Amino acid sequence: MGFSEAQEELVLRSWKAMKPDSESIALKFFLRIFEIAPAAKPMFPFLREAGGDDVPLETHPKLKAHAVTVFVMACESATQLRKTGDVKVREASLRRLGATHVKAGVADAHFEVVKTALLETIEGAVPGMWTPEMKGAWEEAYDQLAAAIKDEMKLAA
Ligand code: HEM
Repeated sequence: MGFSEAQEELVLRSWKAMKPDSESIALKFFLRIFEIAPAAKPMFPFLREAGGDDVPLETHPKLKAHAVTVFVMACESATQLRKTGDVKVREASLRRLGATHVKAGVADAHFEVVKTALLETIEGAVPGMWTPEMKGAWEEAYDQLAAAIKDEMKLAA
């Protein structure tokens, strides 16, 4: 399915509005993931380390880094989809992403949880802008990115 200029504009417009606050929004996004799926927590090695549970999640720099990455990559995916009709993460890094997520034990259901959390977080961050069309555009950008990672995961498994 094609990704239209209008869809790209919706993603970029909301991204621009969120950008100044992207770190705290990204963090909310990840806290939401663990609310929906507490079982995803022990997948993150740094949350498993000794004493990892004693440290509040919001002070984990690596967790925040992952949240920001997923957020930024979903946004970039929108631009690439419109320009090329395909998600283009650099070959080597897409391969690495596949391997990392297989190793961490990430399954299809986790991608769904992350998607739900992402959409809910954006809706909460830009309530005045949120429309079914904007939701659809972010959904498509995320789905295509997740599909590209899942394909690599199959090859790496
Ligand atoms: C690591 C992106 C979905 C769990 C990473 C890394 C990136 C990334 C860039 C850094 C490691 C590397 O470069 O190989 C993404 C994107 C996602 C996604 C773009 C969705 C489109 C998920 C999901 C889960 C997850 C659904 C599970 C709930 C992890 C874990 C690591 C990781 C556990 C390793 C962290 C570490 O060892 O420091 N991800 N991820 N990711 N991701 Fe994701």
